[in-house]
Amino acid sequence: MESLFLRACRNQPIERVPVWLMRQAGRYMSEYRDLRARYSFLELCKQPDLAAEVTLHARQVLQVDAAILFADILLIVECLGLKLTFAKGDGPVISEAVRTPEAVARLPKTVDVSELDYVYQAVKLIRKELPPEISLIGFAGAPFTVASYCVEGGSSREFLNTKRLMYCDPPSWDRLMTTLAEGTIEYLRRQIEAGADSVQLFDSWAGCLSPADYRKFVKPYSAKVLQSLPSEVVKIHFGRGTALLLQDMAECGADVVGVDFMTPLGWARQQVNGKALQGNLDPAVLLTDRETIRNSVEDILREGGGQNHIFNLGHGIVPQTPVDLVKYLVETVREQSSVSFL
Ligand code: CP3
Repeated sequence: MESLFLRACRNQPIERVPVWLMRQAGRYMSEYRDLRARYSFLELCKQPDLAAEVTLHARQVLQVDAAILFADILLIVECLGLKLTFAKGDGPVISEAVRTPEAVARLPKTVDVSELDYVYQAVKLIRKELPPEISLIGFAGAPFTVASYCVEGGSSREFLNTKRLMYCDPPSWDRLMTTLAEGTIEYLRRQIEAGADSVQLFDSWAGCLSPADYRKFVKPYSAKVLQSLPSEVVKIHFGRGTALLLQDMAECGADVVGVDFMTPLGWARQQVNGKALQGNLDPAVLLTDRETIRNSVEDILREGGGQNHIFNLGHGIVPQTPVDLVKYLVETVREQSSVSFL
């Protein structure tokens, strides 16, 4: 039988609600911090045995129903010839940001994702070690979110440079987004070939756009990515601040729509035309106590409706989160979601 996670994603019968957590492997775990004392973040991503160890360890400690590959949505920008670094405290930095039409024109027309071979090797290692009933989620950034890092040169609040390029120079925007979409399709295909049974497309910052701009400047490219992948692979599409975009995101072609913590699951249900939902506990709840967590889980399970729901956070775990509370969260979801089905 297929894994619980895959069945929930496909709206098939489940005995309880599956659970995994965005950023389940990361700095809130002491074993991860120990590794980080010896290796940089990029070194961890680029050494398949280390990336596999980080992925498997988090899955094992938490007893979640899916492992997510340890990597980053920005690794692909190195295939565009851009220089990626992660500065302490500053997050990602892309030197020589792609701000002007000339800079866009200089990008290679096709993205050679064979440079990311270390990712495919990690996927193979993880799949080999993972229990068969546990899913392995591959992932990539959606063209808009990756484009925003390329244009801004790093994280941004307002995305002004990105929007200026998008509004003022639609042909350059199309060239950048098409290049990223095509590279992303090939990148995800190779993760799938290596053993990922599902993929998540992260459009974390799409919520900075109006629905009209999303439809015009972003949706066609995300749709192309999702619709070019093999139909037997489960696809999840996530963004933050996307309440008003959920209908359009669902139309892009994923099986599952990720819901952020600002959007009620019941409301999201009405937007996604029968697709499965993933979400949506506020990661801040993991900074509280057991009682608050239990109450929040019960609320979310009730709103999720028991079927067609994959429990997750509404965005990633934050570094100051106590591991014990994360374990408690997973146990509570497992218990409460099977109890409520009896
Ligand atoms: O466990 C997992 O979720 C899998 C691994 C994973 C990472 N990044 C590891 C990571 C995944 C799926 C991502 C996706 C990612 N990366 C997104 C989309 C999800 C989201 O959070 O919205 C984005 C926007 C990025 C870009 C990125 N990577 C930023 C902005 C940062 C710095 C901020 C931060 O949270 O530290 C990173 C670094 C990063 N990616 C870390 C990890 C574990 C921390 C690196 C460290 O150890 O210092």
